[in-house]
Amino acid sequence: MRADLKEKVDRVLITEEEIKKRVKKLGAQITADYSLDDDIVMVGILRGAVMFMSDLARCVDLPVTLDFMDVSSYDGTKSSGIVRIIKDLEENIAGRHILIVEDIIDTGLTLRHVVSFLETRNPASIKICTLLDKPERRKEKKVEVDYNGFEIPDEFVVGYGLDYQEKFRNLPYIFVLKEEFYE
Ligand code: IMP
Ligand code: MG
Repeated sequence: MRADLKEKVDRVLITEEEIKKRVKKLGAQITADYSLDDDIVMVGILRGAVMFMSDLARCVDLPVTLDFMDVSSYDGTKSSGIVRIIKDLEENIAGRHILIVEDIIDTGLTLRHVVSFLETRNPASIKICTLLDKPERRKEKKVEVDYNGFEIPDEFVVGYGLDYQEKFRNLPYIFVLKEEFYE
């Protein structure tokens, strides 16, 4: 491990090999669940989902369109789950099958809002695929996850797309950040 990381890592939670194996499996599951005739749009939520989406898309053996959205929580109203759309989709999604790709579901409030927002455009279906899930933190029970990479404990993790102050996203594994670095 890189010298500058050693002092920041509490422990590696998911290795590069474990991620690869799981992403392959998720891709196979998704491939099996849709058909060749389905018009699928994978919607990655920026920026955390970029690594996961690019690996996952290569493991889905079906024609898919890739698109991205960027959203952020309104300051001070985090618990309301009202999010601001920073970047909307490029694609028209009416009648198409949407697969939302997220890095991590924490409270679930962000995704609930994204789903309601996309539903108004009448897609044929909306499914959710997340790499990580912190079930202990869930506030929004209405958000149903269709594909889940790993359930993890309530700890702050970084790497493989996930950041702390925009750092660590390019690491190929996921680690728990020492508390002294974010407290
Ligand atoms: P929520 O589900 O609306 O609470 O928010 C999920 C978002 O919070 C994710 O898309 C991440 O951007 C961020 N997040 C939650 N937990 C973590 C973590 O452990 N590390 C990095 N980002 C996190
Ligand atoms: Mg995110």
